[in-house]
Amino acid sequence: MTDSRKILISSALPYANGSLHLGNMVEFIQTDIWVRFQKMRGHDVLYICGSDAHGTPVMLKAQRLNISPEELVTQFSQQQQQDLAEFGIEFDNFYTTHSPENQQLSALIYQRLQQNGDITKRKIEQAYDPVKEMFLPDRFVKGVCPRCQAKDQYGDSCDNCGATYAPTELIDPISAVSGATPITKESEHYFFDLQNYDQALQQWTRGEHLQPQVANLLEEWFAEGLQAWDISRDAPYFGFEIPDAPGKYFYVWLDAPVGYMASLKNLSTRDPNINFDDYWGTDSQAELYHFIGKDIVYFHSLFWPAMLMGAKLRTPTAIFVHGFLTIDGQKMSKSRGTFVKARTYLDHLEAEYLRYYFAAKLSSGTDDIDFNYQDFISRVNADLVGKVINIASRCAKFINQYNNNQLSAKLPKHHLLTTLMAAGDDIAQAYEKREYSRAMREVMQLADQVNQYIDEQKPWVLIKESDKQQAVQDICSLGLNCFRLLILYLKPVLPQLAQRVENFLQIPELTWKDKDTMLCDHVIASFQPLMQRIDKTKLAAMQKATEHEAASEQTS
Ligand code: 2FM
Ligand code: ZN
Repeated sequence: MTDSRKILISSALPYANGSLHLGNMVEFIQTDIWVRFQKMRGHDVLYICGSDAHGTPVMLKAQRLNISPEELVTQFSQQQQQDLAEFGIEFDNFYTTHSPENQQLSALIYQRLQQNGDITKRKIEQAYDPVKEMFLPDRFVKGVCPRCQAKDQYGDSCDNCGATYAPTELIDPISAVSGATPITKESEHYFFDLQNYDQALQQWTRGEHLQPQVANLLEEWFAEGLQAWDISRDAPYFGFEIPDAPGKYFYVWLDAPVGYMASLKNLSTRDPNINFDDYWGTDSQAELYHFIGKDIVYFHSLFWPAMLMGAKLRTPTAIFVHGFLTIDGQKMSKSRGTFVKARTYLDHLEAEYLRYYFAAKLSSGTDDIDFNYQDFISRVNADLVGKVINIASRCAKFINQYNNNQLSAKLPKHHLLTTLMAAGDDIAQAYEKREYSRAMREVMQLADQVNQYIDEQKPWVLIKESDKQQAVQDICSLGLNCFRLLILYLKPVLPQLAQRVENFLQIPELTWKDKDTMLCDHVIASFQPLMQRIDKTKLAAMQKATEHEAASEQTS
């Protein structure tokens, strides 16, 4: 292909101190669909990810479990990779930020920033746990909200009234680690002077690298003025020690995005066909995209590009930001029993139901997407089983029973097939722009037209007339050709279903250009059920299991 593109794609690196939940799956599914689509188009694509290994929560959890932080990271990383694989998320590399590649690259970027004069040092005061002998991140100080007096609130914000404040403002503060009363202690911190990049970042923001909603948000941040970013943490800390600064560590968010590069670096050392510089070299012509949630925009659209600019490394082509997942219109919540873990979902339901449901709801914007259980059941059952799979089951039996599994040598002249072929460009454009809900809508409208054609032709009536045998085979061959195209268009979303259909039709793996071909005079296999309807008792069982997990976590 002459217009083949080189594309490097990432999903945000999940923290390796907990299990993945359905909120995480929005991003992985959104990214994986885009990756699969680009691969089907024949582009040269790499999808990289890894575990976000460092930071205080990982260190403290490992201590509580009496294992090393490395062990904790390995355990969660393996569990997460298993969940992701079962959701059909297919990475080219899943690595970790706790790696020699990441240490080297983080140090390199830091040293270049230092050479530019972008790193400054100054003393700051922070909450300190005198018993545990460690500085406390805001989330590890708890106390009474200074505004509404709600008890047991975190040091940065109140869950009850939404107030934000400094941990020193909490009434009766305690350390969540030891229960001791924190003291205020001074220590020297390293800062990255983000203000030095104000102009460059403003220019970058206006250069089509961000969705309009995100670019507008950045304009507000520029108007407020950029601040120096505190990039160091004192020992004890699970992370990389800062070069020439004993006892000082890079804050987890400094080395986390560098983890994207490290994952690529690691892949390139293992695979001789992959050259790191083709993707991240200064002259790289490759496209680079980061899929992220809207909570981490500041890190990816300000700190990260500024770090790269300062280090004279290429910046991302675009950052694609998505919204949060709500369940029945509400924030996911442990107490309401709606904090569904990826594993709990997989224990009860097919991954591809969720892939389709999210695709049917995702647009290119940053709006939240809602998982409504009733809507989930009716959409998957009506669209996938009722519309798409139905076409194959209606047509295949006539080909299987009366024609020795052989499709007609010539298809009837009908606008339907040309309509479906022509729709491919529009559907491709919708995928390209991450307007998956539009792509799904178009596919379902086409499926409606195919079902209508079968309704009108009535092969089940014609089969009873001796001179209409060929007509039945032609109608059903046309129907199955349409079905093949619908599956091709759904393949980025439903790769497992597509594989079952490829086996049923006895065809090689479908790629996008196959939309211009037809299947004639071709032997197919006998029809087997391709997808079951969602059984609502299984969904109820998933809900129950989620409630149980929340209850047992509260008592443990
Ligand atoms: O917010 C998070 O879940 C982070 N672990 C994402 C890191 S993305 C990248 F910078 F590594
Ligand atoms: Zn409050």
